[in-house]
Amino acid sequence: MAGNWKMYKTAGETTAFFEKILPLVALSTHCDIVIAAPFVNLPAAVAAAAGSRVEVGAQNLYWAKEGAYTGEVSGPMLSAIGCRWVIIGHSERRQYFGETEETVLKRTKAALEHGLRPIVCVGERLKERESGNTDQVLQTQFEGGIAGLSEAEFAKVTIAYEPVWAIGTGKTATPDMAADAHRFLRGLVSAKYGAEAASRTRILYGGSVKPDNVKGLMAQPEIDGALVGGASLDAASFATIVNF
Ligand code: PGA
Repeated sequence: MAGNWKMYKTAGETTAFFEKILPLVALSTHCDIVIAAPFVNLPAAVAAAAGSRVEVGAQNLYWAKEGAYTGEVSGPMLSAIGCRWVIIGHSERRQYFGETEETVLKRTKAALEHGLRPIVCVGERLKERESGNTDQVLQTQFEGGIAGLSEAEFAKVTIAYEPVWAIGTGKTATPDMAADAHRFLRGLVSAKYGAEAASRTRILYGGSVKPDNVKGLMAQPEIDGALVGGASLDAASFATIVNF
């Protein structure tokens, strides 16, 4: 269960969030719990989460280890502060910051090389769904952004299926729609990495996951977890989702 805070919260608000949520998820051993915070809040998040079941993630990274790349943050920098996960290829990065399949693959390889666990996002836009191209889009994103990984690399990847039209809109994919997409993605994984890898791979659903719809989504065997935006900003609401 992963929370994606996007560009929300100060360091002080980060610490306050962890103080509230930790007692609420202290017994939640059924899943991994990740909060992906803005870069500058990662040290506060790591410090506040120390000794708990909650791990901390970043929302992006650059693929070079270091260098003259003004404004960027690298994998070794994230690992060094105790960040364990990183979201890659979120649709907002694809839409506003020029992320492509090629850069998704580069970032994913860099994350793995530096001991971070990537959560790689894929998902179709509304127009693509309406024109019947969902599978085609997912296949293109999988082939370009993920399938270039070796088997050993892929084993450490979590996929997040996030239909773009469901992100921040209050429109959730129905559990059946989400499960269909997850099944299709798992089929792609199976074709590339084998049936065992496919059954082991965790595929998260993201897009307006809330305390009142998480149960229905998680009832689908195809859905292994959630990537939660808006509802992860409130400790009580994210704890309810974690403890669905
Ligand atoms: P949302 O965002 O839950 O606010 O729709 C999900 C995401 O973008 O990861």
